[in-house]
Amino acid sequence: MQLSNEAYNLVYEKYKHQHQNRFTHILGVVEMALYLADLYQIDKEKAKIAALMHDYSKYDDFDNAYNLLNKEDLEECKKYPFLYHAYLSAEEYKKLLGNDNEIYLAIRNHVFGRPNMTKLEEIIMIADYTEKNRTYKECIEVREILLSGDLNLAIYKSLEYTISHSIKNNQLPHPRQIEVLNEYKLKVEKL
Ligand SMILES: [Fe+2]
Ligand SMILES: [Fe+2]
Repeated sequence: MQLSNEAYNLVYEKYKHQHQNRFTHILGVVEMALYLADLYQIDKEKAKIAALMHDYSKYDDFDNAYNLLNKEDLEECKKYPFLYHAYLSAEEYKKLLGNDNEIYLAIRNHVFGRPNMTKLEEIIMIADYTEKNRTYKECIEVREILLSGDLNLAIYKSLEYTISHSIKNNQLPHPRQIEVLNEYKLKVEKL
């Protein structure tokens, strides 16, 4: 069986009785990731596995974090709790499916990326923000930019919006989030 089919089955089982909306979102991310993988000539099987697994641990309890994350990651997640599910999902991918480092990083960094992302990381991060079930006006705007072919601008705008969203919710942006924002600002201005 193809690994992406195994990933599909795992996620299906995980969400068939609870949080069914999450499964709908995940399938939306798969669809967008495959479209982008085709456009940017990225391995589609890898894109599919990363998209399927990216939110695998979205609702897992913290006990799982203590078993799967190292001390450094735990400290970071305590400060920035939105990272828990991404780091945990990446560890679950390794535990349950395989050890492709590109897939691992794409899952781990899907919330706001990291400096010098691979194309697969970029695709999973932006597919998460722009998949078709996202109906916020910011997501629609970024989806339009992305579908017009401007990947860098789409990533830049998505970061701008997620950072201002964090600030509005009295949550400090992660320093890496700002680094990524600045990296894409330069890319966008260069054009
Ligand atoms: Fe997520
Ligand atoms: Fe997601």
